[in-house]
Amino acid sequence: MFGLLCRFLWLLSVAVSPVVVANTDDGLLGFYTAGVAEFRPAIMGGTSQQLLEENLLGYLELMASGNGTTDIIVFPEATLNSVVTLTAVPESTAQSLCDEQPDDDPEIQTFLRRLACAAREYNTYLVINVKERAPENCPSGITCSNRGYIVYNTNVVFNRQGAVVSRYRKWNLYLEPSTNRTEFPELATFKTDFNVTFGHFICFDMLFYTPAQDLVERLGIRHVIVTKMFNSELPFLTASQLQQGWAWGNRVNLLASGASIPLAGVSGSGIYAGEHGALARLMITEETEGQRKLLLAQVPLDPEENMLLDETLEPETATTTKLKLLQQPELEKFATWELPMVKGSSVNKRICQQDLCCEFQINWTLEESEESPSGYYYRLGVWVGERRYEEEQYSAIRLCGLFSCSSSNVQSCGLINEEQGNRVIFTKLQILGEFVRKPRRLITPSTLSFSNLYALQPSQLIWSTEETDNLTRIKMELRQPHSQLMTFAIYGNYFDEYANGGATTVEASRLGTLLFLLITPLMMMHLIWE
Ligand SMILES: *[C@@H]1O[C@H](CO)[C@@H](O)[C@H](O)[C@H]1NC(C)=O
Ligand SMILES: *[C@@H]1O[C@H](CO)[C@@H](O)[C@H](O)[C@H]1NC(C)=O
Ligand SMILES: *[C@@H]1O[C@H](CO)[C@@H](O)[C@H](O)[C@H]1NC(C)=O
Ligand SMILES: *[C@@H]1O[C@H](CO)[C@@H](O)[C@H](O)[C@H]1NC(C)=O
Ligand SMILES: *[C@@H]1O[C@H](CO)[C@@H](O)[C@H](O)[C@H]1NC(C)=O
Repeated sequence: MFGLLCRFLWLLSVAVSPVVVANTDDGLLGFYTAGVAEFRPAIMGGTSQQLLEENLLGYLELMASGNGTTDIIVFPEATLNSVVTLTAVPESTAQSLCDEQPDDDPEIQTFLRRLACAAREYNTYLVINVKERAPENCPSGITCSNRGYIVYNTNVVFNRQGAVVSRYRKWNLYLEPSTNRTEFPELATFKTDFNVTFGHFICFDMLFYTPAQDLVERLGIRHVIVTKMFNSELPFLTASQLQQGWAWGNRVNLLASGASIPLAGVSGSGIYAGEHGALARLMITEETEGQRKLLLAQVPLDPEENMLLDETLEPETATTTKLKLLQQPELEKFATWELPMVKGSSVNKRICQQDLCCEFQINWTLEESEESPSGYYYRLGVWVGERRYEEEQYSAIRLCGLFSCSSSNVQSCGLINEEQGNRVIFTKLQILGEFVRKPRRLITPSTLSFSNLYALQPSQLIWSTEETDNLTRIKMELRQPHSQLMTFAIYGNYFDEYANGGATTVEASRLGTLLFLLITPLMMMHLIWE
């Protein structure tokens, strides 16, 4: 439950989890209890109605597992209903949707009401994502679609009584041909009874300025919710890595709930406290099945609360990865330099591309394996360019860092090397990056350990920024030796820099990757199986 507790109780309350917290401030420290679901949807083996029912029961089971201890629970994108089991979603309601009102929209489906009842039963705010059916506003003389209604990809938020307090319709659609977009982007926020105002959006939105950065920069939102079905890409954009970096770069709390379909590269959920790193997180890498799990954490009311989290959430064990991962498509355009695989060495190197220069200071040793000489290779790289997703959607990127490769070929960077071989132990690793200032950009740490596909925690990483007239200097440094590095980079998303008459038009790669595998194929499957 929500509470304003003193530091002593805060310590007690987290002692059950392996996170050690020390509040360096005197005085009160407040937090709320959040739950995010990593959720494996039922995709086949029934009619759309049966699949919906199975998903709904899964949601209710996870909500029950929280025992009414949460202030807010979040479920992922596209893991409940489909385009053939659409529901109406009111923008907000005075009464709980659990209690039917005489003038209610008859298109509000029972499953939505049952979830409203569950929010009331467990006394929690509840965020879900649905396929919404909305009436088509069709003035005479204008050609309307023959479907007769509009479909949105929609987040719905219930309060503790089950009344709708917020609705958000996805703006940055990703390969969702049967889904409509609102005329203007919506900035969706809601205030809670624990004095936190949340903003929320959906999956692909996280890579664009609008509405995600609008919420943070224009509205000053410090607590963000995202519902996701995200297909991870190496070496910079795996799900939990991106979530943790986004929360860190924006200095906000982030509740991220992800669909769990590892066979399709989709997994990754977590609760992140800005620069304090992950409080809870889950990437399913060792199985193909996916999981249904509620991750819980006590989240500070102030994401910049001066606390020291010394967290090792997961054991660092090298495992085989069964998660199907995509690979950055433009690696051959990076300016790179390969680290020589010699036993012990150090290097100082400055690498530039266009307007970005990064300076690397590295010491490393090589632990040679008797069985196999292979193992990871490493490159330093700098890249300024435009990145294409799908459907003519782009981001201007400036990045630099160290990343692992499975051979000495640059095309192998970001590929998992299943063979256990030589290990490179970095005893010092520092990057100084000089990033041009622009009004619309987000610069984040992007780190990854290959043992478990999680980002490095603040106990392992120093990150500092300094603004000058026209540059942001970023310093990123390992705090302690690391032997399982996959990625150690500064990732700058300059969003739509090129779109608004920017400097150059970089030719987009046609190796368009399926970064966010989406609902569409899955939901088409519903249709096919019926
Ligand atoms: C809920 O209650 C069950 C049974 O008492 C317990 O095992 C479980 O840990 C509890 N969960 C939470 C989140 O408190
Ligand atoms: C909604 O999307 C459908 C399918 O793409 C399209 O035919 C229809 O015109 C769209 N409706 C509106 C109002 O944009
Ligand atoms: C609620 O939050 C605001 C800003 O975040 C803060 O100024 C105010 O003191 C808080 N109110 C209470 C009752 O904690
Ligand atoms: C890194 O290498 C440099 C030059 O060999 C050396 O002076 C320095 O002490 C080393 N630092 C660490 C942390 O190993
Ligand atoms: C930044 O400003 C300095 C001096 O004000 C100037 O010399 C330099 O060329 C500028 N750099 C860029 C990238 O604009």
